[in-house]
Amino acid sequence: MNRRIQTARALAALFLVLCLAACGPGGPTGIAPTLTKPAAAAGETGSAPTATVVIEEQPAAPVEEQSPVYLDSQAPAETRAADLLARMTLEEKIGQMTQVEKNSIHPEAITRLHIGSLLSGGGGAPAINTPEAWAEMVDGFQAYAMRTRLGIPLIYGVDAVHGHNNLKGATIFPHNIGLGAANDPALVERIARATALEMAATGIRWNFAPVVAVPQDIRWGRTYEGFSENTEIVTALGAAYVRGLQNASEGGDLSHPEAVLATPKHYIGDGGTLWGTSPVPAFEIDRGDVPVDEATLRALYLPPYQAAIAAGAQSIMVSFNSWNGTKLHAHKYLLTDVLKGELGFEGFLVSDWKAIDEIPGSAYSDVVTSINAGLDMIMVPSDYPAFIDNVRRAVDNGDIPVARIDDAVRRILTVKFKLGLFEHPYSDPALMSQVGSPEHRELARQAVAKSLVLLQNEGQVLPLSKETGLLFVGGEAADNMGIQCGGWTIEWQGKKGDILPGVTILEAIQATVADPAGVRYDPKGQFADEAGAGGQPAVAEVGIAVVGESPYAEGAGDRADLSLTAADVALIQAMRQRSQKLVVILVSGRPLVITDQLSLADAWVAAWLPGSEGQGVADVLFGDLPFTGRLPYTWPRSIDQVLDRQSPLYPLGYGLQ
Ligand code: BGC
Ligand code: BGC
Repeated sequence: MNRRIQTARALAALFLVLCLAACGPGGPTGIAPTLTKPAAAAGETGSAPTATVVIEEQPAAPVEEQSPVYLDSQAPAETRAADLLARMTLEEKIGQMTQVEKNSIHPEAITRLHIGSLLSGGGGAPAINTPEAWAEMVDGFQAYAMRTRLGIPLIYGVDAVHGHNNLKGATIFPHNIGLGAANDPALVERIARATALEMAATGIRWNFAPVVAVPQDIRWGRTYEGFSENTEIVTALGAAYVRGLQNASEGGDLSHPEAVLATPKHYIGDGGTLWGTSPVPAFEIDRGDVPVDEATLRALYLPPYQAAIAAGAQSIMVSFNSWNGTKLHAHKYLLTDVLKGELGFEGFLVSDWKAIDEIPGSAYSDVVTSINAGLDMIMVPSDYPAFIDNVRRAVDNGDIPVARIDDAVRRILTVKFKLGLFEHPYSDPALMSQVGSPEHRELARQAVAKSLVLLQNEGQVLPLSKETGLLFVGGEAADNMGIQCGGWTIEWQGKKGDILPGVTILEAIQATVADPAGVRYDPKGQFADEAGAGGQPAVAEVGIAVVGESPYAEGAGDRADLSLTAADVALIQAMRQRSQKLVVILVSGRPLVITDQLSLADAWVAAWLPGSEGQGVADVLFGDLPFTGRLPYTWPRSIDQVLDRQSPLYPLGYGLQ
């Protein structure tokens, strides 16, 4: 054991002692607030555990031999997993298959029920959202797992889908739609590497990313999470992301403490659901049905998984959607026969959030159906006592074969060994400086610049001169970190406002022009106080209107209408009157219908959801870097043509230089 691990262990042990001291012998109530808060107080997650489950306490007996094979770091992961599996009770095995949302668990239950995995859902930050508090939280949970009889570490997962985006201070990269516009696998690989370093600093070695959906209908609220509507682009960028996260190209492997397990998601048909088929009343298309034949399903949606597996993917998340009426979480043919059989996937399958509950039937039959279909770990995420009880009863009743349980646990343990979690269960404080580092922010800025797509440039108004005199910047999105980051940032749904450190588009413009005093900002684009000669309303040399979408995630972003809002149209019209040249920058998670407004502005730029480094927008607007982005999605002329690729406003791959 090296010094770093010893220190981390000592710290974690101390933390544990402090927690126990704070809590007293009366039970878990009030255990250190940084460790956990009840789901209700967090106001973001599912119901608190309800069912009671009777699981006998394991006597905390040490393993018999001095040096069991599974603790031998030199032995192959598969050998270690087999050795460990042979020592485990059924309760210990079921625990490994259980993934609990961190606000829903009392930490002592991690030890008592041998829980194998925790996650932070969208917005699942500790009470104080700093990198140090994250590391302390994750290490604190880990200490409870390390106390189990066999000392099996947790694998902690998070959605770091555009940087470590629940963490305040992390570098926020453009959402995947922007990376699809940049279409540069080497860039994506570097972004994934940077994301892994920022995650590892907080003790998290598992990312529920990349999304390798191939969205076919941009009305879907997850369009921006997908790289492109084009399977080849998704395939190349998804595999690059896996390599970057898992440190594969630097001659490294998963066992490196700076490598993070990737999770291509959501298998399969993600992005192919039909409008109006969502099972969730408030949604339209998210989680719906994919009504295509098998050849189409394979052609459109399978290649990203083949490439990700070839790139070393060891975990895959199953999709909420159904295929011709059967939920993927219940689809033995697609999960077991195709993925694990035909494609030779040797890692483990994790379910999506509460997704087995969407399978028709009871909670008991959901457990039986999904595990028998091939799910290895279940993202429960809250009512874990009931889940554990159901699995236990299903095995006792012979409804789930023990061999299936063993296969699931063997897969999970093998990945834990490959990750080196038994050797490095805790965070490495030396990595802390990686979070939001200047290098990562510089990389994000480059990615933003490469993601911009120039849609129109009448009279070559772009690039702008840095010597521009009076410059009007309008639109709430121009100076709003939350809007430019979009969903999955600090909160699951994202949030408007000054939610994390970074550079807004307005700040970037001010930092780029020769005379920042010439830049005036009005979120409403009225510039009522700006008078010119003779008291007439001043006319700016250049106006920049920044408009688009407010943050959303998943089905909450399903939209039947993708027009600009009336307020945005009014803003563009007002700024047209007050600007000699007008540039519109769209900050949005997908193409919007702009046909009727196009002629109002000289230039139109799609900036997608650029993230924390808005300077990349100004770098291109003012000509320090060229426009190179290409549309990753077809841009419809009208909403009626949203599924029509024949006569779009702009085709896939379009982008002016
Ligand atoms: C999403 C997944 C995500 C999970 C955990 C689900 O609702 O579909 O993409 O990984 O929640 O946050
Ligand atoms: C969680 C997300 C999850 C979503 C699914 C939210 O409460 O924070 O992570 O994706 O629920 O509905």
